[in-house]
Amino acid sequence: MKNKIETLKQQLNDLSIETAEQLEEYRLQFLSKKGKIQSLFSDFKNVSKEEKPLVGQMINSLKNQAQESYNTFKENIRSDKEEDKDELDLTRPVEFSHFGARHPISLVRNEIVDIFNRIGFVISEGPEIEDDFHIFTALNFPQEHPARDMQDTFFIEKDPDVALRTHTSSVQARVMENTPPPIRTISPGRVFRNEAISARAHCIFHQVEGLYVDKDVSFADLKQTLLYFAKEMFGEETKIRLRPSYFPFTEPSAEMDVSCNICGGKGCNVCKYTGWLEILGCGMVDPNVLRNCGINAEEYTGFAFGMGVERIAMLKYQVKDLRLFFENDKRFLDQFSGAF
Ligand code: PHE
Repeated sequence: MKNKIETLKQQLNDLSIETAEQLEEYRLQFLSKKGKIQSLFSDFKNVSKEEKPLVGQMINSLKNQAQESYNTFKENIRSDKEEDKDELDLTRPVEFSHFGARHPISLVRNEIVDIFNRIGFVISEGPEIEDDFHIFTALNFPQEHPARDMQDTFFIEKDPDVALRTHTSSVQARVMENTPPPIRTISPGRVFRNEAISARAHCIFHQVEGLYVDKDVSFADLKQTLLYFAKEMFGEETKIRLRPSYFPFTEPSAEMDVSCNICGGKGCNVCKYTGWLEILGCGMVDPNVLRNCGINAEEYTGFAFGMGVERIAMLKYQVKDLRLFFENDKRFLDQFSGAF
């Protein structure tokens, strides 16, 4: 009797059950009224009195074990089935999946690029890790200019001739070297400056710079191009004003303000009650720059301008803290979905 129980126990341990049919077969063989365990109970009456307690215990524990295995097998088969159903039921409603949105900086960059594309400016790109010549020297930065100082520029330790570009004017220097005029190009891209991060400044930001070189390009052309841009970007009512400024690579140089699109020029806290918002730097390309890049400065003139994409995005979307553009906080970014 004990041997019989041990053998059945072994059989149970060795079993593996994968299908519903096998499970039913198992139930019939072991657990049903005519099954092997029930027949042990029938044999039990023939066991001697002394052995009864032990054998009784063995049969009961075998029965429990068989019932437990049955339950486990059943559970496994059911969950397998459910997985299959997941794979196969193509009629189930689609689960909502969250689509990403374009980053506000990309939206504004694309909008700026589109506006200039429409009047014939083509995109040019260049390296973010640049040499001194294209960031500074070609652009007429005197050797001792403060922008070359470690304060503003990330230099590469091993080679003082290599730095992260501080503006995308470096791309324009490359274009001028390689393309005979007429040139009409814009260079969008990421730039780097060694600045403390605050609500208004970051060590990484984005620019779109433009360059136009041809015969007889004048300051009036620059002004009209920028007026067109301002109206396209901020609305037909927008006015511009140019204030004298200084950049090593342009002469004369100016900074451009647009009339505040929030208060319409009346004065509000966005424009600090001046009615104007500063958005870009510009000027006529310094003849030295043309010469440095192999263009005949007697024959050709040009204008250039450059703007920060974050600055425009802050004005457009009323974002008060520049750092939000870099944090990838979904709650912030989600507000721009649908703004394609
Ligand atoms: N390169 C300038 C800057 O980084 C912007 C600029 C471009 C100014 C072209 C004038 C002309 O701020």
